[in-house]
Amino acid sequence: MIKPLSYVEKIQPYIPGKPIKEVERELGIKRAIKLASNENPLGPSPKVIQAIKDLLKEPEELARYPEGSGYYLKNALCEKFLQKGVKLSHDEIILGNGSNELIDIAVKTYLGPGDEAIMANPSFIVYAMSVTSQGGIAKEVPLKDWRHDLEGMLKEITQKTKIIFIANPNNPTGTINFRDEFHKFMESLPDNILLIMDEAYYEYVSSDKYPDTLEYFQQGRDILILRTFSKAYGLASLRIGYGIAKAEIIREMNRIREPFNTNTVAQIAAEAALSDEEHLGKVIQINEEGKKYLYRELEKIEHIKFIPTEANFIYIILPENISSKKVFESLIKLGVIIRPVGPRQIRVTIGLKEENEAFIESFKKIF
Ligand SMILES: Cc1ncc(COP(=O)(O)O)c(C=O)c1O
Repeated sequence: MIKPLSYVEKIQPYIPGKPIKEVERELGIKRAIKLASNENPLGPSPKVIQAIKDLLKEPEELARYPEGSGYYLKNALCEKFLQKGVKLSHDEIILGNGSNELIDIAVKTYLGPGDEAIMANPSFIVYAMSVTSQGGIAKEVPLKDWRHDLEGMLKEITQKTKIIFIANPNNPTGTINFRDEFHKFMESLPDNILLIMDEAYYEYVSSDKYPDTLEYFQQGRDILILRTFSKAYGLASLRIGYGIAKAEIIREMNRIREPFNTNTVAQIAAEAALSDEEHLGKVIQINEEGKKYLYRELEKIEHIKFIPTEANFIYIILPENISSKKVFESLIKLGVIIRPVGPRQIRVTIGLKEENEAFIESFKKIF
């Protein structure tokens, strides 16, 4: 039988959770609470729903290929960034079928067999998968105090290093690296390495120490900033994200981008989502309130530890004698789905008030 490439065999496939309806059917419950994938519990803006309904009034649009360059969405992004004082042009933006696809495109563009990429551990698992799938070597640097060890990552650079990944905020810890340390890191980072700044949870960050990575893009550095509509904008199922980099980098990435990689529904939904600042504000407010509630309640539970978050999820460290698998299994029986992310670590998405309360009630029952 045909064999896969040796480096493809090394990849652990991503295992998605069971469909929520199936969990509900098995447990005989009406509404399971899913706090496992850092989705937006409020859903998208009503303007998004209206834009999709309007699109369906012209069903022939579904029979046509999408607008391959994402012209209108890029216009909307340029306008949005201009309001914040950042001048962007279409050739400095790339749209992706989720920011996930942009990780893959960047890796395929800049990294070949035997080349190295540096990333943190634990961090977003897709980085290592993507690098390994190209025959590259994923060098993982342990977090320090739950945050990226930027100095440690610099020390791992060799002649073969092509890409460095930084998730800021990091998934699964929800932590950020600060402006000062990031600035120092940028001063030492050689120019022939692509820095991928993954800012999937950008909109949720409240810290005033968060670095403005667009400054480095404006200085012409080799940086690709990734953002997504999957999280704060609530469009995870439509798969749309974007990358910002200097035109030379976007041009190289466009060589291997599928011509119609983002679909029409996603493009018009993302454009509508950008136009509703009020909804985004509500999403962030609900997340902040949920965060405060969860902090308060988790502090009352003995022997567990949690890491303060800048995102829409919380990383919880369980006591020595309790495994994350056990907690996951016990919680799911109570209709609450969370994600085990290490032997004693779980990640819980911040949900709506009643979802957070249901999680806390069930979590307390287990202890
Ligand atoms: C750090 C990080 N980056 C990227 C993504 C991918 O997001 P998407 O492909 O939906 O844009 C995720 C999703 O969970 C994430 O946590």
